[in-house]
Amino acid sequence: MSKLWGGRFTKKTDQLVEEYTASILFDKELAEEDIQGSIAHVMMLGKQGILPLDDVEKIKDGLHRVLQRIHRNDIEFSISDEDIHMNIEKTLIDDVGPVGGKLHTGRSRNDQVATDMHLWLRKRVVEFVDLLHKLQAALVEQAKANLDTILPGYTHLQRAQPILFAHHMMAYVSMFGRDIERLQDSYKRINMLPLGAGALAGTTFPIDRHYVASQLKFDRVYENSLDAVSDRDFILEFLSHASIIMMHLSRISEELIMWSSTEFHFVELDDAFCTGSSIMPQKKNPDVPELVRGKTGRVYGNLIGLLTVLKSLPLAYNKDMQEDKEGMFDTVRTLQGALQLFAPMIATMKVNKDRMRQAVNQDFSNATDIADFLVGKGLPFRQAHEVIGKTVLYCIQQGKYLLDLTLDEFKQFSKLFDDRIYSVLQPENVVNARNVYGGTATAQVSDAIGRAEAELEKT
Ligand code: ARG
Repeated sequence: MSKLWGGRFTKKTDQLVEEYTASILFDKELAEEDIQGSIAHVMMLGKQGILPLDDVEKIKDGLHRVLQRIHRNDIEFSISDEDIHMNIEKTLIDDVGPVGGKLHTGRSRNDQVATDMHLWLRKRVVEFVDLLHKLQAALVEQAKANLDTILPGYTHLQRAQPILFAHHMMAYVSMFGRDIERLQDSYKRINMLPLGAGALAGTTFPIDRHYVASQLKFDRVYENSLDAVSDRDFILEFLSHASIIMMHLSRISEELIMWSSTEFHFVELDDAFCTGSSIMPQKKNPDVPELVRGKTGRVYGNLIGLLTVLKSLPLAYNKDMQEDKEGMFDTVRTLQGALQLFAPMIATMKVNKDRMRQAVNQDFSNATDIADFLVGKGLPFRQAHEVIGKTVLYCIQQGKYLLDLTLDEFKQFSKLFDDRIYSVLQPENVVNARNVYGGTATAQVSDAIGRAEAELEKT
């Protein structure tokens, strides 16, 4: 079978070369966008008088038929036609005859493939914003149900200060909020049209790029033809944002895994999101968060992979750039999988309020607050810190917690103590004392929930 570009060649392509250079096995993912772009292109060729209108109609109808056949899975793509662009063009020519060969007028695969990728990624970004909103909504629901759940907050994975579980959930709502902002901001750089750049220098035909842009609902047209066919920043940006989202997901995954352990037993993931062991009958493993944590690696890998492909690459198109696709598809699939599972997993997670509370009762995470109490009595914070450090050490030696000490015992460490400390030390009071914007006090966290709900309602 002859190649679309066969004219200059006297020999058949080596079979292994064909297999090595072909991208059809993965870029068939772009079929719909390829046809969408071709329809806009051929309509423009008609409007500009570059092609007669009846040729345009034949080509358009043919492209619609090709699309239907693709949807019906009725086309066998072939490696000898290399990629999705030439497979579709070949199928079109088989369908409509030689007039199909006019479609590629004033266009190159270089601006065509870039256009396809912009169209494809544009859709995905919209879907990801939606998935992230759903995850935020699930986290907000858990926060609302746990405005009275107190657990130890950690630094260095050591008990630090008690916090509301709701506050912890809302921390992730904020992170995913920034992820959404980043994706939305990148949209303006994805929503740009490369088509019309030709192979690299523009085209001799009197095309109308702005018309094509408006047909495809792109906000902007790439200004420079060399840049248009060479740019993959928009993919890099997406891969970076996807990496940051996975990093956030891997952190909450790690916490869910820890919290599900017998040692913590703070939460229980629903059976539907866990698996068992083939040998140990008692096991219920948190496979979903574990895999999300693990798959973060491949998402980072795809980012580093494409950064490395593009590094030092001279302008304009180079075949290296065909390597932009598999990583992007893989990242999209990986992120979709993680986000689709995460929202229902969070929504169905059981929160063990009593166990968290028990943990708070058996620690020194209220120590900062009696230091602050002494400061309130006029003691410089540094000295108060020292006094409480000694008090905690005494407790540890005695096998007691701060609330177990008598006032006399307290007074051995400072005369400034009085019986109000017992109230200061109560976990509820410790939490509610942090009544600053962004703090863990119930009033602040309810406000944060209210703000998040208002944002989610707008979507
Ligand atoms: N399959 C190619 C890619 O994905 C399409 C562009 C090919 N252009 C070329 N001049 N060989 O990058």
